[in-house]
Amino acid sequence: MAFNSELLRKLVKIYGPSSNENLVREFIIEEIKTYVDEIEIDSMGNLIAHKKGPGKKIMISSHMDQIGLMVIDIDKNGFLRFTNVGGISPQITLSQRVIFENGTVGGVFSEPVEDMSKLKLENMYIDIGAFSKEEAEKYVQIGDICIYNTNLDENENVVFSSYLDDRVGCFVSIEAIKTLKEAKNDLYFVFSVQEEVGLRGAKTAAYKINPDIGISLDVTIHGDTPKAKRFAVGLNKGAAIKIKDNSLICHPKVRDTLIKIAKESNIPYQLEVLDAGGTDSGAIQLTKSGIPSGVISIPTRYVHSTMEMASKNDIKNCIDLLVGFLNYEFNV
Ligand code: CO
Ligand code: ZN
Repeated sequence: MAFNSELLRKLVKIYGPSSNENLVREFIIEEIKTYVDEIEIDSMGNLIAHKKGPGKKIMISSHMDQIGLMVIDIDKNGFLRFTNVGGISPQITLSQRVIFENGTVGGVFSEPVEDMSKLKLENMYIDIGAFSKEEAEKYVQIGDICIYNTNLDENENVVFSSYLDDRVGCFVSIEAIKTLKEAKNDLYFVFSVQEEVGLRGAKTAAYKINPDIGISLDVTIHGDTPKAKRFAVGLNKGAAIKIKDNSLICHPKVRDTLIKIAKESNIPYQLEVLDAGGTDSGAIQLTKSGIPSGVISIPTRYVHSTMEMASKNDIKNCIDLLVGFLNYEFNV
């Protein structure tokens, strides 16, 4: 399958910070509706697409939401103070352009700071070019969330953009849905909400679906740039099969099945031991009396920056590995 850059380019551009995922959801429904049997939106806003099959009930989760900046106050000169929605770094956010759902654009700057390493979000503000509080309030209200305003760039090897986390996971799920013909297992594709603020959507979706197996698709970090922290995952070395992160230790049977499929189908893979972060499978695993869960991670440099970078080969390998897993005949 050719790499569908155009689909990924569209996905990373859609406004959808945690709790405001509706535009992403509408876009994905249009993409997948002819390939699945049932589509449901639950009360949290998760999109649940069911592709019926005879085997195991599998929940496949990719999160639609993205990190952003939420307005907490507007000063008399029209500058917006903000707090983070998800993991926002002050240094990365300084001098970035941002956009609100209604199209209002701005940029992020800070009060004069002597020591940039001590930069905090509370010393920063969003400038939308309004000259008074009253004028700013015509465009923005307390509680509104803006996101980084960037585009996807690419060459033969890589794509880079803000918000590969986790639109690239959504992309992998969508491409898998389009690739699967007859489903051998009973597949529930969940495009989840509010992952970035604590795996919240996956938690309620897993409870409702009560799957036999959980799998999620999300970015992981990298260890292959100058003086990077020791971490055996890098770009263009294959799909990453997670062993652990801070939200779960993947179920050995799920992990080993992924490894077996990768080996048998000659899909390049690498093993991921992450001492930070979490993903939807962490929530799925702890549902009801426990659900064996694993993760296929897309190796990504500079996660939560405006130039998250991933390899096109790795992304394709993740799609192949997911399709292989969903077609697998589970005996137990
Ligand atoms: Co994230
Ligand atoms: Zn993510």
